[in-house]
This record gives sequence, structure tokens and C-alpha cells, in this order.
Amino acid sequence: MSVLITGGAGFIGSHTCVELLQAGEEIVVVDNFVNSKPAAVEAVKTITGKDFPFYEVDLLDEEGLERVFSENQIDCVIHFAGLKAVGESVQQPLRYYHNNLTGSLILCRVMERHGCKRMVFSSSATVYGNPHTVPITEDFPLSTTNPYGSTKLMLERIFGDLCVPDPEWSVTLLRYFNPIGAHESGLIGEDPNGIPNNLMPYICQVAAGKLDHLNVFGNDYPTHDGTGVRDYIHVVDLAKGHCNAVRYARQHTGCDAINLGTGKGYSVLDIVHAFETATGVKVPYEIAPRRAGDIPTCYADPSKAKRVLGWEAKYGLEDMCRSAWNYIQKKQEREGKERRSED
Ligand code: WQD
Repeated sequence: MSVLITGGAGFIGSHTCVELLQAGEEIVVVDNFVNSKPAAVEAVKTITGKDFPFYEVDLLDEEGLERVFSENQIDCVIHFAGLKAVGESVQQPLRYYHNNLTGSLILCRVMERHGCKRMVFSSSATVYGNPHTVPITEDFPLSTTNPYGSTKLMLERIFGDLCVPDPEWSVTLLRYFNPIGAHESGLIGEDPNGIPNNLMPYICQVAAGKLDHLNVFGNDYPTHDGTGVRDYIHVVDLAKGHCNAVRYARQHTGCDAINLGTGKGYSVLDIVHAFETATGVKVPYEIAPRRAGDIPTCYADPSKAKRVLGWEAKYGLEDMCRSAWNYIQKKQEREGKERRSED
């Protein structure tokens, strides 16, 4: 039996494919490359030395999805595929609701048609909104402030509702905090198209000389140094958590929400200093106005993941920074070789 990974060419998806293959799982990958590249699929095969079926299919294409399930024996789905830029979702709500919700509903319909009723869902700490305190546990109130976050919260409720009439459904909602870093090979990592929205890829572009300086969005928050505090987690730790969640989904039914975080909060300036220490590269920055929608502090209580999944984060902040920078450096080397070979 295989695990289907939707969005498996993406940042977290590709790292999860590596860990699943190395844990001995058979996988099938689906991606439409709207926010990823075919090179990531090849990199997973290079890193693991294993092959697997890949389908370039959009979840809105029910016939394409039907073919994936007809041609493979799938017993569990890890569902990453979806649009995920907070700011873009505010500007394009209908595109986000249609893509993320309709695509997921079609996925569930095809899953049910093929008797596949195990889902591990890529949710997000964004469903907690602005928490009244920290650390955050899974029973905290849920609220969202943008269409991207609302699609995550709506899908948590939709998938949970599947479990009510049909006791065969198993849904594990993994609420990620802030995934950063990259696989040690430097072959896969986070490198969004255009100007990065998120902190670590932006810092890496500044370190690479592609951007002039980092804008620190506000230094007047009620935190230890005035800048925003988040729970940064190594993407490989996050990927390993998905392997544990697949095993859990095969042994349990019903709907369970689980935080995947380190339980430690670091500020923007903590990250800047950790990156400079880990890489030896200076990151010039300027204090800028707060970014609309940002919250002061957000970090997890990860004890349920340890209790239920037998999982906890292992990598530290320096590993996260060094691996993120290693990916960018290796990517620049690859691009340089490709340019020279074209000349
Ligand atoms: C982190 C901190 C910023 C950029 C978002 C989504 C969340 C998830 C992860 C998808 C904040 C500060 C950032 C910059 C800065 N995405 N910052 N300058 O906003 O915590 O979470 O990405 O699942 O759902 O909400 O992550 O990396 O954008 O910001 O000062 O150029 O860095 O203010 O304090 P965020 P982030």
C-alpha cells in the first residue's frame, strides 16, 4: 500500500517524501507545480535513490485524480497541496477558497470512492489567530484573520465532519508553526518565486546579495526585544512528524489536531543573530513599520505530539539557519553551472 502526497514537490512536501521513503514507505506524488518545480521531484529520487510514481495533476482535475487512485493502491493521503501566501489570499479570496476548498473536496470524494479514508492534513498555527497566552495547546480557541488561514480552519472542520457519520475515517490535523531550514544535501529547500514573504527565505536572499537588507516589521511588540516571536521548526523535524502521523492514522480513527512545533519562541532579531553566527554572513537590517495581520508572539506546547505521535523536534536554531543557507549556496552553484553549460 502507498501513501499519496499531494503537493509533494513543495517545500514541506518534498522533505516529507524523503523521510517517508527512508522510513520504508511506498509513495505516490501529485503536484501541479503552481508553487514548486519538477527539479524537487528529481531531487527526492537522487537523495533517496528510490523511484516512485509522479503525476502532474491539479486537485481540481477529478479525472486526473481518479487516474492516480485507479493506478495505485493508496491507503493514506498526506494533503499539502494548496495556495499558502497570506497577503495574496487577502487580495484574491475567491481564488484561494476555490483552489483550497474545492480541490480538497474533490480529493475527499475520490478517496471515498476508492475506500481510502486516512488523511494527514497540512494545517497551520495560523488557525489559533492571536492567542490569549503562550505556549499554545490544541484546545485553544480557533480564529483566523485572512482567507488563507480561513481555508485551513474550514478544511479542519470539513475533514472532522467526515468522521462523524463514518467511523472508518481517520483524520490527523497537523498544525505547523514556522518551518525553516533544508535537507542536509542542499538539493531541496525553501526558495519561493519572487520576493519572499517569510523571514528565513528573505534573510537568505539578503545574505546572497540579491536583496539589500532585511526589513524588521516592528520592534515595539511586547516581547523581549520588541520584535515578533515565533516557533521556528526545522523542516526535516516537521517531515519526520508526518511519518509518525501516518503510522498513527493507520492505528486510529476519528479526528485529532496535533501541534508540530519546538515549544521555543525566537524573535526576529534572535533569528538574524543566529543566522550570522551559524553562517558567518552579516545580515543588514532596518526597523520598519509593523506588517498588517502580524501577531506579537506564537509558539507551541508540543507535548501532545510527544504523547500521541512519539515525536519531538530535535534540531536547533543553528542547524536550521546553516541548512537554509547551505541550500541557497548549493542552488546558486547549480544555477551557475547551468548558465556556463548554456554559454
Ligand atoms: C515571521 C516573523 C514577521 C518577514 C506565516 C503564515 C503561516 C505560515 C508561516 C504557511 C514575523 C517577521 C517576516 C520579513 C520580518 N505559512 N518578518 N521581515 O507570519 O509567522 O507565518 O508563514 O503555512 O501560516 O502566517 O511567518 O516568516 O512571514 O514572519 O520582520 O521580511 O518575521 O513580522 O514576526 P509568519 P513569517
